[in-house]
Amino acid sequence: MKVAVLGAAGGIGQALSLLLKTQLPAGSELSLYDVAPVVPGVAVDLSHIPTDVAVAGFGKDDLADALSGCDIVLIPAGVPRKPGMDRSDLFNINAGIVKNLVDACADNCPNACIGIITNPVNTTVAIAAEALKAKGVYDKNKLFGVTTLDVIRSETFIAELKGKSTSEIHVPVIGGHSGTTILPLLSQVEGVSFTDEEVAALTPRIQNAGTEVVEAKAGGGSATLSMGQAAARFCLSLVKAMQGGDVIEYTYVQVDGSEDAAFFAHPVKLGKNGVEEILPYGELSAFEQKAKEDMLEGLRGDIKLGVDFVNG
Ligand code: NAI
Repeated sequence: MKVAVLGAAGGIGQALSLLLKTQLPAGSELSLYDVAPVVPGVAVDLSHIPTDVAVAGFGKDDLADALSGCDIVLIPAGVPRKPGMDRSDLFNINAGIVKNLVDACADNCPNACIGIITNPVNTTVAIAAEALKAKGVYDKNKLFGVTTLDVIRSETFIAELKGKSTSEIHVPVIGGHSGTTILPLLSQVEGVSFTDEEVAALTPRIQNAGTEVVEAKAGGGSATLSMGQAAARFCLSLVKAMQGGDVIEYTYVQVDGSEDAAFFAHPVKLGKNGVEEILPYGELSAFEQKAKEDMLEGLRGDIKLGVDFVNG
């Protein structure tokens, strides 16, 4: 397996690269790319950790070399939020960064699975899809918006609230990845039950958890360590599936014929070629159904913004 991290010198990129260096299967290669001049140093630093994963760093002008032969590309390149910003405020800078990096993926590793972490994910995934289509290499089964952070946050908060081990709690989170488009399905969490008041408090806490971190970092960025863990979990699941294992993850993918939106986070069975099957998300409670109906227009607008960015 060859995995590239684009934006590898950043807060997420470094945490993610560390976790991949220590957890990818033996014999894997890790390719670290960033425009920041520190990236070769990050690679040398990681290379001193004794695992059987080879690490190489690539600077600004070496993107093609970083991507050549990659099976999986993870993209956390771009700017993070500061207090008072929501994810859509990042569009002006991050849209172009994602488009350029995905164009390079199309040219250098057209068959790779691509995981988009850069916000606003609701929009940047649509940008990536359109960029790949324009290059004639789009495979909807190989493009993912990484929404795993919403899942791990939900698992943590619910385990804390209910006094359970996090290993016992599994939370479906569907929709998109910003504000009310993040829809945790608390009615489907096995082994615990919630009062209406708990649902009314916990749902917005999960939806605004990113802002909790942004405010606590007070101008120093957004979630990096928990996001590194989330992206590593997603990547390792994908690796396991690509090597023949049976894995289901919640992730933001293109869903054909959906009445929700063109892209929507679903439970997805992963396989050798990325998405093997998009699974239904099951029955929603009345609260969840209303929350979904209320957010769909916003999510569809976020997606259209991405489509228009590339085609308009
Ligand atoms: P950061 O500022 O610490 O790191 C970003 C890195 O991207 C920097 O090293 C920068 O040099 C690099 N970069 C910028 N332009 C580039 C380009 N054209 N090519 C390659 N690298 C480039 O930011 P951080 O905290 O790592 O966040 C990165 C992104 O991830 C942000 O857009 C943030 O909003 C997003 N994010 C997504 C989450 C999710 O759940 N999907 C959660 C948290 C953050």
